[in-house]
Amino acid sequence: MGVEKYAKKEIVTLMKMAGSSTRSSAGHIEGMINLGAGDPDFDQPEFINKAVYEAMEAGQTHYSFTGEPDFKAAIAKYYKKYGVDIDPKTQVLITSGGSQAIFEAFGAILDPGDELIVFDPAYTGYNSPITYFGAKMVRAKQYKDRDGHFRPDFANLEAAITDKTKAILFCTPDNPTGTVWTKDELKKLAKIAVKHDLVVISDEIYTEFIWGDMKHETIIDLPGMWERTIVLMSFSKTFAWTGCRAGYIIAGPEMTKAVRAVPVGICSMPVPFQKAAIVALEKGWDFVEEMRVEYKKRIDYIVGRLNAIEGIKCAYPQGAFYAFPDISSLGIPSMKFAMDFFRQEKVRCAPGSGYGEMGEGHIRFALVRPIEDLAEVCDRLERFVKNLPPQAPPTVP
Ligand SMILES: Cc1ncc(COP(=O)(O)O)c(C=O)c1O
Repeated sequence: MGVEKYAKKEIVTLMKMAGSSTRSSAGHIEGMINLGAGDPDFDQPEFINKAVYEAMEAGQTHYSFTGEPDFKAAIAKYYKKYGVDIDPKTQVLITSGGSQAIFEAFGAILDPGDELIVFDPAYTGYNSPITYFGAKMVRAKQYKDRDGHFRPDFANLEAAITDKTKAILFCTPDNPTGTVWTKDELKKLAKIAVKHDLVVISDEIYTEFIWGDMKHETIIDLPGMWERTIVLMSFSKTFAWTGCRAGYIIAGPEMTKAVRAVPVGICSMPVPFQKAAIVALEKGWDFVEEMRVEYKKRIDYIVGRLNAIEGIKCAYPQGAFYAFPDISSLGIPSMKFAMDFFRQEKVRCAPGSGYGEMGEGHIRFALVRPIEDLAEVCDRLERFVKNLPPQAPPTVP
């Protein structure tokens, strides 16, 4: 109590934000199905667990300030699949998960008062670090295409740029919308970034989860982008490693130097996990494929069921493993919808309003439970929607 007088002013803001958070810490409740957080329900395969232990047994338990060179080499080899050659020594930084990658990227470029543009809707994990660095988040609204996918609106993006703008952040495949950026969209973004001399932060952590015939493209090798792009990556989703904290940054050599200068000290990915991550990058792809097959089945299932409920429309995600249905015609704010659904039916989902103004009218389901649970969620949702009190018709202005 009273600590505010000692705390950094951005920390005071963050403490207030945490205090007003609607997130419940109620833990597990009997009968609850949690589709709120994107924590995959797959366990890491035994050969990866073993690799962690073997590295420890081999004495790989010492300081590693800048990351293990063989892990960085394995990352460079992996990223080549996107047609990009990177030098592991000067262009890869190891982080403790995607969240630390976000923090380090922001720490390298954001001065107090700087503006960072994110698209709307956007993942919520960017919000607190931006506040922490005293910068301001500016949102560029996206539009919905005919298939119901959110897409970048470049006129809105340019309108959001001011003389304080330092960077633009985007995510492909995107959480929560499931949108995968096309090459043409990446080129447009690159052109704007070069024209206004801005940094681009490219969150690519869902790269391995693309459905249909699109493929992951990166912005980093487009003309003028090497020196201004910071790619954020994580093992959390790729190898279902959320608890093992593994991530990395790819950038041009000069930008890498800047990010490396962020004083995060030894808050790093433990060396035995770095060694096991090499094994994952070598031999973990069958496991990734198993997850992909299962996620695809879940998406097919839930999109079909959601669209069969009157008042709900759900676009088929192009990537990632979230369903982001449009509930706007039910006439209930997404926060109230999510809270009432939880109270009445014990299902956790995320209200779309948390992702920005454009996310209002949506809820997000993380598809991190087996189909049987998703079937139960859909049964409960059908019942919940059927029992909603009639809404007042929209007023005509
Ligand atoms: C778009 C996006 N970026 C970054 C992160 C953070 O990754 P990590 O869990 O590895 O910290 C997440 C996690 O859900 C995410 O969805």
